[in-house]
Amino acid sequence: MGEKIIITVAAMSAISGTLAILLVIAERFLANYGEVKISINDEAKPLVLQGGTSLLSALSSQKIFLPSACGGRGTCAYCKCKILSGAGTILPTEAPLLTPFEIKNNIRLACQVKVKQDLQIEIPEELFNIKEFETEVTLIQDLTYDIKLVRFQLLNPTEINFKAGQYVQLQNNPYEKVKERASRAYSIASPNYEKNYVDLMIRLVPEGIVTTWVHKYLKEKDRVTLVGPMGDFHLRDGDGEIICVAGGSGMAPIVALLAEIASKKIPRKVVYFFGAVTAKDLFYLQEMEEFTKQIIDFTFIPALSGANVGDEWKGERGLITVPLANHLQEKDNSKTQAYMCGSPGMIKACNIVLQKYGLSEDRIFYDPFS
Ligand SMILES: Cc1cc2nc3c(=O)[nH]c(=O)nc-3n(C[C@H](O)[C@H](O)[C@H](O)COP(=O)(O)OP(=O)(O)OC[C@H]3O[C@@H](n4cnc5c(N)ncnc54)[C@H](O)[C@@H]3O)c2cc1C
Ligand code: FES
Repeated sequence: MGEKIIITVAAMSAISGTLAILLVIAERFLANYGEVKISINDEAKPLVLQGGTSLLSALSSQKIFLPSACGGRGTCAYCKCKILSGAGTILPTEAPLLTPFEIKNNIRLACQVKVKQDLQIEIPEELFNIKEFETEVTLIQDLTYDIKLVRFQLLNPTEINFKAGQYVQLQNNPYEKVKERASRAYSIASPNYEKNYVDLMIRLVPEGIVTTWVHKYLKEKDRVTLVGPMGDFHLRDGDGEIICVAGGSGMAPIVALLAEIASKKIPRKVVYFFGAVTAKDLFYLQEMEEFTKQIIDFTFIPALSGANVGDEWKGERGLITVPLANHLQEKDNSKTQAYMCGSPGMIKACNIVLQKYGLSEDRIFYDPFS
């Protein structure tokens, strides 16, 4: 009896698996959605294009770029867009990333919605500022053993307008066994008053598609396409203390924020906590020295968390949450704002500390590098 049940279940699984594969093949090779119209913000002239791709790809083929940090993998939820008609029901790949409010208001993930019929969508006007930039790599510099600074000179268009803290998308060229072109988000490290080039700080992720390409194959004089600016991480108005927290290449957008604070001579106290494992993970120390001269009241606090940090290290030890908590306790944090960039784990841990010492959620801003 038990054997019969196992055989039946196995047979059913095999049949449904085969059917699923056939459906995918049929969808890929046989489905022809023909020409479809996408009308945006009630514009009289809709886009006319071939159906069959994701809405994100369809729009980018027409040089309309929605924010995306995961390159369309359905994990970042940055590509949210209002679709008034033609998108069908919410897909299982979208549901976990949408709130009940968003679902009720027809918000969808553009990278998951396939263009199969005419669509009516709404896009915030500011997203039309996102452009594609042809660039030339003019500098590649090792900041640490696993972080490189890469400078991209803008060739066409030659100027970018962005808020310090925003990011661009970088796409790899095919290499070795990697045939696909993937897009990933990288925060702009250069100051936003430098409009003709963009500096990125890129940390090597073992086996990572884009970072392996950058670290092993990208050379000076290479032509590369960037798309941006994107993102909502930027300096907010206020008159309280500014706390910055970063780890690794999370340094990039914080450096851009510090340059903005310095250039505008913003009269606010700034304390920057930087978490690293060992001294060889520290970089931009000279630049931090410069900021202490340029920013009215600036303190840089690096902390090393490695078990084997020697006695020569005279600075803070332990996770970055330790000096952060020491700084926040016993002072009034009712006007303090916090800006954080780095691993999701670091951001989560610091968020708990910040809220414990009185920073409300609306004064905590972050970009997790996930
Ligand atoms: C808004 C935003 C800004 C960012 N800015 C920067 C930046 O300035 N500098 C920078 O170096 N990165 C930044 N990132 C991260 C970057 O977008 C990529 O995720 C990262 O470089 C990995 O890309 P990859 O193609 O090499 O790896 P993938 O091929 O995407 O990943 C390979 C494997 O590594 C894992 N993985 C992916 N990212 C990480 C990571 N960061 N650490 C550990 N494991 C990982 C994946 O889960 C996967 O299993 C940012 C991310 C976001 C969302
Ligand atoms: S692009 Fe990341 S979820 Fe759509």
